[in-house]
Amino acid sequence: MSDSYSLLILPGDGIGPEVMAEVVKVIDWFGANRGMSFDIQHGLVGGSSYDAHGTPLTDETMAKAQSVDAVLLGAVGGTQYDSLDFSVKPERGLLRLRKEMDLYANLRPAQCFDALADFSSLKREVVAGLDILIVRELTSGVYFGEPRGIHSDDNNPDNEGGRVGINTQRYTSGEIRRVARSAFELARRRSNRVCSMEKANVMESGILWREEVQWVHDNEYPDVELSHMYADNGAMQLVRKPRQFDVIVTDNLFGDLLSDAAAMLTGSLGMLPSASLGAPMANGRPKALYEPVHGSAPDIAGQGKANPIACILSFAMALRYSFDQGDAAAELERAVERVLADGARTADLMGPEGGTPLSTSEMGDRIVAALSQG
Ligand code: NAI
Ligand code: MG
Repeated sequence: MSDSYSLLILPGDGIGPEVMAEVVKVIDWFGANRGMSFDIQHGLVGGSSYDAHGTPLTDETMAKAQSVDAVLLGAVGGTQYDSLDFSVKPERGLLRLRKEMDLYANLRPAQCFDALADFSSLKREVVAGLDILIVRELTSGVYFGEPRGIHSDDNNPDNEGGRVGINTQRYTSGEIRRVARSAFELARRRSNRVCSMEKANVMESGILWREEVQWVHDNEYPDVELSHMYADNGAMQLVRKPRQFDVIVTDNLFGDLLSDAAAMLTGSLGMLPSASLGAPMANGRPKALYEPVHGSAPDIAGQGKANPIACILSFAMALRYSFDQGDAAAELERAVERVLADGARTADLMGPEGGTPLSTSEMGDRIVAALSQG
């Protein structure tokens, strides 16, 4: 019996369609060789959708995204859209997807491929073999909390400039519990360890965070090893001894910073995948959007220079987290590891020693060939 999965593919703008074409080769390979069947729909998002429909995301595409097992997105944006009104900018399409699908858990792996360890800003012996997963709360916290704004502070004569800027860190217990559950579920598929980061020493929302994560652990995931760490210490530990971690769960603001810092432990932007997960659907699979961390790279778009690996590894995450195909995900990650070990490099991965870089489609072909060689 074959396993059937529904996918919505949204290539987007710039290098998005170029890297997505390589992902489609990989999907076809798994369909032909691993007894999976994919029901694939295609759609537009970002500037390409604006050009065709006058909006960065149509209601029809939004409805499709809500109905499939997983959405795979390339990237949105481009200089030709810079002058558009804010309400129809390409980014609004992506933001609408994240918001209406209520994707509250943002997964950012930091995985060091041995062949690229010298790209890290840290020493090889500190990062070799690194494989951690940062789970960032994505839909609440200080980026959304009320009150917010810039106000005049007129009745405070001691305030030079007379203004005050306000943002509010606000978390409900329910928001913390649901992202904590995501982290514990993910840890069970990995090394079964979660480290929760906040600043409970100086923030009440941090105290609540720590208590609620502990509550979910004690009541629902006592088998997972849980530790707590102040986020500033977490930042130090990430660059000092990153391999001590498995899954890190943290709030929106700390997660924004920590995931970007962790990403640079492993090298190039062209290598970094991500996933955003929401609540489980009726079939038990979470609402899910997979996308590379990088943007539409207008500086290299249309030239066949883009590295497709970030987008291909995002599909590996879909195999693991939406389709429960952990073995297939690992198989794909090993194929990437192997072509890199063989010296395959797109331009962004070329060291000072130089050489001739592979094109986007050559890199995709190499990865498919490595899959076939087993
Ligand atoms: P970017 O990630 O597109 O590019 C930054 C640099 O990295 C560029 O020099 C680019 O050539 C290079 N790069 C990125 N991905 C690469 C790949 N796969 N292979 C080789 N090189 C790669 O970020 P930037 O330049 O700040 O933004 C460009 C556009 O993308 C903007 O319109 C921005 O709004 C949008 N953007 C979209 C995102 C998304 O769709 N999630 C995320 C970030 C930016
Ligand atoms: Mg960031």
